[in-house]
Amino acid sequence: MTDKPFLTDVQELRRRARQHIEEGAVTDAYRADRDTVIKLLNEALATEIVCVLRYKRHYFMAQGIHADPIAQEFLTHANEEQGHADQLAGRIVQLGGSPNFNPEGLLSRSHSEYVEGQNLVDMIKEDLVAERIAIDSYTEMIHFVGDDDITTRRMLESILAVEEEHADDLSSFLADMEKDWTQRPRTTG
Ligand SMILES: [Fe+2]
Ligand SMILES: [Fe+2]
Repeated sequence: MTDKPFLTDVQELRRRARQHIEEGAVTDAYRADRDTVIKLLNEALATEIVCVLRYKRHYFMAQGIHADPIAQEFLTHANEEQGHADQLAGRIVQLGGSPNFNPEGLLSRSHSEYVEGQNLVDMIKEDLVAERIAIDSYTEMIHFVGDDDITTRRMLESILAVEEEHADDLSSFLADMEKDWTQRPRTTG
């Protein structure tokens, strides 16, 4: 069996694919601990949902304080986090799991927090903290999955790249706001 050339094993590959047809995308070549991967993906899903809610809140509140470019960025991030949530849920189903959208316990499953923020700088700082947490947890998940589930790893890597962009956007906003503040002419009474 092991000394056969790869191509002669195609029939065996097909037989196994049929045998486990009910397992969908998961074949015998899947080497990861599936239950753990599904659990991790559900935690990431909760994290993304909390991020969507926080960014939406910040979007609507920032509109109220006439910070349009930043509000728009919050909205863009909210939509991208929603896209991540959808990707994660889709992969969970592919792996034979079920995506957990239950609002109960959402915050305790999530890695990041829901902080409303009292002003624009607060909001940006809270979002930056959340992004940095997401970056850390996606990095850990990628190392955990390694070569055992390449599709999941690739998905996580693409999400990680976007979280890094988000963190970068937010730290540029913070830097700009700090710069404006120090350069603003001060009137002293
Ligand atoms: Fe995300
Ligand atoms: Fe993000």
